[in-house]
Amino acid sequence: VANEKESMYLVSEFASKYFQHVLWEEEEGKAIGLSYFKERGFTNETIKKFNLGYSPNTWDALTKEALGKAYKLEFLEKTGLTIVGEDKQFDRFKGRVMFPIQSMSGRVLGFGGRILTNDKKAAKYLNSPESEIYHKSNVLYGIFHAKQSIAKLDNCFLVEGYTDVIQMHQAGIENVVSSSGTALTPNQIRLINRLTKNITVLFDGDAAGLRASIRGIDLILEEGMNVKVCSFPDGDDPDSFAKKTPYDELVKYLDENAKDFIQFKASLLMQDAKNDPIKKADLIRDMVISISKIPDRIKREIYIQECSRIMDISEDVLFSTLAQMAQKDL
Ligand code: CTP
Ligand code: MN
Ligand code: MN
Ligand code: MN
Ligand code: MN
Repeated sequence: VANEKESMYLVSEFASKYFQHVLWEEEEGKAIGLSYFKERGFTNETIKKFNLGYSPNTWDALTKEALGKAYKLEFLEKTGLTIVGEDKQFDRFKGRVMFPIQSMSGRVLGFGGRILTNDKKAAKYLNSPESEIYHKSNVLYGIFHAKQSIAKLDNCFLVEGYTDVIQMHQAGIENVVSSSGTALTPNQIRLINRLTKNITVLFDGDAAGLRASIRGIDLILEEGMNVKVCSFPDGDDPDSFAKKTPYDELVKYLDENAKDFIQFKASLLMQDAKNDPIKKADLIRDMVISISKIPDRIKREIYIQECSRIMDISEDVLFSTLAQMAQKDL
């Protein structure tokens, strides 16, 4: 089994090298893949740093190349690079630009592949399937390039997508990772927890991003970590925002708009509940649920005080609500 995993790592590394070769050296790769990345504003240096590539738009270019180099079909199939049908085999990622997903130590575990058209019917991103070497819930895109910066700055920015990580790096902010391709999991948060106790969530400025941030908050609090949330204007994500914002302004924006989770939740209320007492009650309850996830009792107490102050409700009521919730958990 150890050998099997090693063979899967090796074929993944080969595929990554091949996709990069096609991107930089072959006509189709240059004309389609490289110009796509250039249009998105990625520099050569950035494209190389993240080992971005291109998978040719033919049925079995990678598979043929790999088999020709004596890699076994078994491992191409197990990593999901090749789909083996009844009488033929074909490349999973044909005609896509490729984002290799690396482990903490830099090994290639899998890929995300993006289509180049805006065909709404096709999946925008296709990802490697779960495999012996790629356990999605334990992997964060960008961690290999971000780990030093996360530890040094004692903070980690958490974004939604591949291009958010890459564009932020290019803008000069390197402590960024993404849960790309899955909803955020406790294990992903634990990976960050080894490097810092502080996470700033930077999700897309749309309804899906907002939902994901709210869900992320409680998961992060449950791990005993500190969480802030920084929102983006509607329609922007960290990629589009970083691309159009000069470094100094970007840093200032992130700094000024990163709100502690309780402030973030309060600001949601100010936006849509205003003077509606029922909505206000729901939101207070929701805040207490988040607070109840915090393992540290002193921190819980401080947040209850904060919540009481912001929402203008007595601490007693909040503490008894918290106690009721703890009771239910037993
Ligand atoms: N995603 C996915 N499959 C999809 C859509 C999205 O796996 N069909 C994942 C990708 O990791 C993507 C992330 O969810 O990066 C965020 O999705 P979205 O915001 O829609 O994509 P962007 O990262 O903004 O992609 P792009 O800027 O290339 O359009
Ligand atoms: Mn070639
Ligand atoms: Mn989105
Ligand atoms: Mn996005
Ligand atoms: Mn985007």
